[in-house]
Amino acid sequence: MRNTAAVILAAGQGTRMKSTKHKVLHEIAAKPMLFHLMDTVHLLGCEQQVLIIGSGREQVEEAVGTTEYKAKFAVQEEQLGTGHAVMMACNALEGCSGDVIILFGDTPFIPLEVMQKMLAAKNIEGEQPGIVVLGFDAENPGRYGRLVLAEDDSLERIVEYKDANDAERAITLCNSGMMVVDGDKLFEWLDSLSNDNAAGEYYLTDLVERARADGVKTVVVKAEEHDVMGVNSRADLAVAENAFQIKRRREMMNTGVTLIDPATVYFADDTKIANDVVIEPNVYFGPGVTVHNGARIKAFSHLEGAIVGEGASIGPYARLRPGADVGEKAKIGNFVEVKKAKLGNGAKVSHLSYIGDAQVGAGANIGAGTITCNYDGFFKYQTVVGDGAFIGSNTALVAPVTIGNGAIIGAGSVISSDIDIDALGVTRAKQKQIDGFAAKFRSDKLAKKEQE
Ligand code: UD1
Ligand code: CA
Repeated sequence: MRNTAAVILAAGQGTRMKSTKHKVLHEIAAKPMLFHLMDTVHLLGCEQQVLIIGSGREQVEEAVGTTEYKAKFAVQEEQLGTGHAVMMACNALEGCSGDVIILFGDTPFIPLEVMQKMLAAKNIEGEQPGIVVLGFDAENPGRYGRLVLAEDDSLERIVEYKDANDAERAITLCNSGMMVVDGDKLFEWLDSLSNDNAAGEYYLTDLVERARADGVKTVVVKAEEHDVMGVNSRADLAVAENAFQIKRRREMMNTGVTLIDPATVYFADDTKIANDVVIEPNVYFGPGVTVHNGARIKAFSHLEGAIVGEGASIGPYARLRPGADVGEKAKIGNFVEVKKAKLGNGAKVSHLSYIGDAQVGAGANIGAGTITCNYDGFFKYQTVVGDGAFIGSNTALVAPVTIGNGAIIGAGSVISSDIDIDALGVTRAKQKQIDGFAAKFRSDKLAKKEQE
């Protein structure tokens, strides 16, 4: 197969999103939609990738800059149409011969197999079409461009909705917008486009007639409508998110993860879950979570940037924030928040605690209501709890502080200096008892009340 370059159009404003954030950076499964598309393009093995940016371009440049995607940028100052947008890739693609696949940043879920099918159709022995357009049979063709087929079922031309007559509008075979074009001809054909049409734009779609005028064959490859779904509004974004989640839940179950009520569990694109993990209803995975074999994530838990060890138990109602690293068979119970903290194997934090910037040893037991006081309003400090230590309920561990292996902390203590191995640390006022006080208190108050 020939070399392939990809051109991704993302210069449009996306006004219907009603957002200050660029449309292609809106997230699906905790990842910008553009990056879902760029992942597929990467798998396709494109030698060159060019992103056409314009409106809100700084945002796209910055976001891509934080990743390892190898894309060149080409700027389209004014959005004069999809054909004009592709023209902007001319310099970036200088010297590149082969096939150019043209994609839209707001149509992020074209499956890899569909892209491969387009490239394969472009390279059929003997046929060698100059353009392969991705079409689909639309349930409701609305304002999509229509594909007009020739007698031999090749593609004769594409007519935009605005320019179409009634007979053309009755066609249900629509243009997804995506196409593969012969790289040797692409820019020559683009140069001859005109904007003499209903929208006053340079239409990429006019390339088809232009190629045929050169006696070059143009054809259609078909996709399913849901594969070519574009995201233009918040409602579309929600539909795309839902479609992603349905697919991912099925994939998770196929790899041996139990989802008791799949529809209530949300994954990030990068969530990694081993087999024999059970996920109870209403669990949300933000980015960067790995869950190892046999763990159980109980209902109403929220996890991001966390590692859950083999056989560990999380929740119900737990929150694991970035840097939470929970050891094998450890237990995080209800209303516990863990951030940037490593918990050893078998450690337990069962109820109502905040453990942040900490290291908790294997088998340690953190009592209900324990708080690591990790922040003084300016800096963060570490708490270290040794192996097998026992922290009594309602303890404040004022960091930086270290509790030795096997030490015990008395309930209700505020611990601000280190406690040695196997020692008891306790900071409570001495307990007093005043015999008969309560009975006398009640009788005095009752007598006073009767006098009123
Ligand atoms: C386009 C197709 C139409 C197809 C539809 C599918 C053309 C002329 N029409 O129409 O046949 O049915 O997609 O959704 O191609 N963009 C730029 N610069 C521009 C204009 C657009 O970068 O000057 C980008 C947009 O950001 C977007 C993509 O190109 O990602 C598509 O543009 P859009 O205006 O949505 O195209 P449609 O008019 O919907
Ligand atoms: Ca569109």
